[in-house]
Amino acid sequence: MPDLRVCARRLTARQVVSGRLPGMTYNKAKLYKECLMIVYDEQNQTFTLHTCNTTYQMKVDHYQVLVHTYYGPYVGDNSLSHCLRCADRDFSPNPNEAGNDRTYSLDIIPQEYSTCGVGDFRLPSVEPELPDGSHTLDLRYLGYTLQKGKYTLPDLPAFYSAEEEAETLTLYLEDASAQIETALYFGVFEKSDLITRAVRIINRGKETVRLHRCASLCLDFLRADMDLITFNAHHLMERCPDRAPLRSGIQSVGSVRGISSHQHNPFVILCDQNADEYHGLCYGAMLLYSGNFEAAVECSPFESSRLVMGIHPYHFCWSLRPGESFTTPEAALVCSPDGFTQMSQQFHRAIRDHLLRDPYSHRRKPVLINNWEATYFDFTAEKLVDIANEASALGIELFVMDDGWFGVRDDDSSGLGDWQVNKTKLPDGLEGLVSRINSLGMSFGIWVEPEMVNENSALYREHPDWILHVPGRAPARGRGQFVLDFSRKDVRDHIYGQLKTIFSSAPVTYVKWDMNRSLTDVWSDALPPQRQGEVYHRYVLGVYDILERLRTDYPHMLIEGCCGGGGRFDGGMLYYTPQIWCSDDSDAIDRLKIQYGTSFCYPPCTMGAHVSAVPNEQNGRITPLETRGIVAMSGAFGYEMDPGKCSPEEKEIIRRQVAWYQTHYELICRGDYYRLGDPFANNLFTAWEHVSEDKRQAVVSLVTGSVRPSPPYSRLCLKGLDPSLQYRINGSETLYSGGALMQAGYPLPAFSGDYQAIQLYLEAQS
Ligand code: GLA
Repeated sequence: MPDLRVCARRLTARQVVSGRLPGMTYNKAKLYKECLMIVYDEQNQTFTLHTCNTTYQMKVDHYQVLVHTYYGPYVGDNSLSHCLRCADRDFSPNPNEAGNDRTYSLDIIPQEYSTCGVGDFRLPSVEPELPDGSHTLDLRYLGYTLQKGKYTLPDLPAFYSAEEEAETLTLYLEDASAQIETALYFGVFEKSDLITRAVRIINRGKETVRLHRCASLCLDFLRADMDLITFNAHHLMERCPDRAPLRSGIQSVGSVRGISSHQHNPFVILCDQNADEYHGLCYGAMLLYSGNFEAAVECSPFESSRLVMGIHPYHFCWSLRPGESFTTPEAALVCSPDGFTQMSQQFHRAIRDHLLRDPYSHRRKPVLINNWEATYFDFTAEKLVDIANEASALGIELFVMDDGWFGVRDDDSSGLGDWQVNKTKLPDGLEGLVSRINSLGMSFGIWVEPEMVNENSALYREHPDWILHVPGRAPARGRGQFVLDFSRKDVRDHIYGQLKTIFSSAPVTYVKWDMNRSLTDVWSDALPPQRQGEVYHRYVLGVYDILERLRTDYPHMLIEGCCGGGGRFDGGMLYYTPQIWCSDDSDAIDRLKIQYGTSFCYPPCTMGAHVSAVPNEQNGRITPLETRGIVAMSGAFGYEMDPGKCSPEEKEIIRRQVAWYQTHYELICRGDYYRLGDPFANNLFTAWEHVSEDKRQAVVSLVTGSVRPSPPYSRLCLKGLDPSLQYRINGSETLYSGGALMQAGYPLPAFSGDYQAIQLYLEAQS
């Protein structure tokens, strides 16, 4: 937790200046004198953003260029421009107004939002095609506004705040000759140590401008001796950390699949080369976006580096007619001086408190059972009720009917697009089924995949032109299905109409919103050829639009995101779907890695995690039921199996697991999360811990790897406890001091057999 006492003292001592710059002509928003997190120093022309533990500073230089001077641990309000160096670097051009001064070059100075074609050859943040055919932009400072509270973005996901929790600085830049204006938004969340960024580009000219690139974030560093950590892999193994030192040139991850993707995640870390969980300076950057993205870092030869993050420029071209503007998705930054754990906890808190819009934010979510791995497409109403009946006897509270309930859908080759109940499987309709489920004391949830259509469906037969397709080219199939053109409102309206009919026909309290292929043949019937570069982004905006409608019409419904598991696990989706099915791989041992990687940015409460049957459906592994429970319990917990096939002993274990999770829900879902081991590095065991805010309770979970003869005698050093408190572990007689548990550790028992697990519940004695 940030030290709020220190924070408050600092705030009262701080001089606050806000106002209008001399000569400023563009300043429409209201100015607030009482902004405390943002300091404008008129004399030095610096803007300093303060969170409790970090400082971010920019400066308007003598050529009105907006220079980035600092982002790092808290250092106060002083100008930090003494670190900037100017030198004559051959082949680094000088702006015209610099005359004979060859030491001033846009190619060298750290900038807040990099431009193109006028002397900075490093990664550009923005690239317009001007009416005269040139691709140049030279942005100079125009003015600023300050606002209490956090800015919002039209039709895009964004962190939100109450008025007193955040402040907004907007810096206006312009290229007078191109008549392009840019608004850089900075949201400052003091207690969460979070800074958000977004950009709006406005065409003030008289002709259309085409934007080929428009990043959300540019962050320059006066150093290049850092590691870049990205989160990668594939379907069934998402978000595995990959760490490498920065090297000369550009290194990047991204997606051109139309979804944020299983392969790369729109979250990256830049850190000291010796940074670990508890040491070293590290910066985390997340993009709140669910489509094509790019996160690129460029090292310049002069020991500096630049991170640029935003919509991927592949096939992006946005036409801005006179007076129109384009707003980028939001990016969010956290800086931790003390390693990854603190960075993750800052993101977790910020996401929980300022991004998720969870109908269960003030109450416990129900434990669910999903029939997918139990039945796949092969079910009847009787079978579903049997599963629900068994589950409800074990304390499970929500039954989720997965794929196969609609249209003609006995496998994945038909039915998508026809969102009407399949009366062969459910003869009494949804209402009949839900009322039987409800009579068991369970609530009801349903699976949908609204963005897709099968060729073999009534919808496709009627509207073949509603899919993304390039005229004259037969579109690629993915899982045997096509992608509906969600950039089109008429298509979305039709699908939403069908969904509404279903969701209003019975009390549906949960929806699993799935999406099972990447986008290809990206072309829309609704746009002229010169605007096809807008389709990828308009598609994402369409998904956000329909999800927002769903949230508005059904405010109490919990929407779980899914994309073949975790193919769209990003901050953008989390704004609409406060939990996301973490991976289609439900094997507990693989999940250790997936959930570990995911936790670097995203809090445990967002990770859909289920206990499934063994041998595991994805990899054939057999793990103990206790282990499967312990792994799934560190996320949004549920089951994905037929409990009717369990032995009485197994049912008893499930009953205990459900009750345990219900009791400790608050701690797991709102506690601070500590990674106690790296499953990629340690094959003896993986461990993690949830600690309550007041440090009086903790849950430690540990899972072993394959058994070894004569294993070493291991201790586990806990984290985040109060060293002065005495803790009882799993109700033990013995009391353990928090200090001893953290420094000397807790001795692990000898394990026999593969993939064993233990769970320790610590409670402080008063
Ligand atoms: C995706 C999901 C699964 C399941 C199937 C149904 O793969 O990730 O959980 O819902 O679709 O077809």
